[in-house]
Amino acid sequence: MRTELASVSASETERIAAVLAGRLMVGDVVGVSGELGAGKTTFVRGACRALGVTSPVTSPTFTIGHRYSGDVDVSHLDFYRFAGVSAAEWGDLEPYFEDAIVFVEWPEVGASVLPPARLTVALEHAGGDRRRIALASAETALVQGVS
Ligand SMILES: Nc1ncnc2c1ncn2[C@@H]1O[C@H](COP(=O)(O)OP(=O)(O)OP(=O)(O)O)[C@@H](O)[C@H]1O
Ligand SMILES: [Mg+2]
Repeated sequence: MRTELASVSASETERIAAVLAGRLMVGDVVGVSGELGAGKTTFVRGACRALGVTSPVTSPTFTIGHRYSGDVDVSHLDFYRFAGVSAAEWGDLEPYFEDAIVFVEWPEVGASVLPPARLTVALEHAGGDRRRIALASAETALVQGVS
């Protein structure tokens, strides 16, 4: 099931992310893709806030990921600077996936090792602050009725 939404501001993207976050559970992997500046980290921040994370949510720069504590644990991985993920590197990443909801920026890079995503989010520039947000999941209920 695939559905497309429009967002006109960063705060609207955060709000959409918050609605979706409420449908997630520990163990879920969410792929968040899109060009530079499309709003991937903004989306993850909105989801984190809804999940009770109060610490700053920023792009992992010097590390591949962050793990936050909220009402549940939330991991945020960013594969931007990686060409791919080897099986050995996957060993280092595995703890991020234990007992957490995991958001992955540039999931294409880790496709060979990542667990399947329950939800994928693709953000696209649509002029100015506008973004198209495509949601896809095998579960219709997960992506339907977000507004
Ligand atoms: N509708 C919108 N949705 C999301 N972000 C928006 C929107 N309109 C403007 N912005 C702005 O665009 C920028 C998006 O930055 P963000 O770091 O979230 O993108 P990103 O996709 O994670 O980029 P990167 O590829 O560098 O990781 C922010 O400055 C945000 O405020
Ligand atoms: Mg980012």
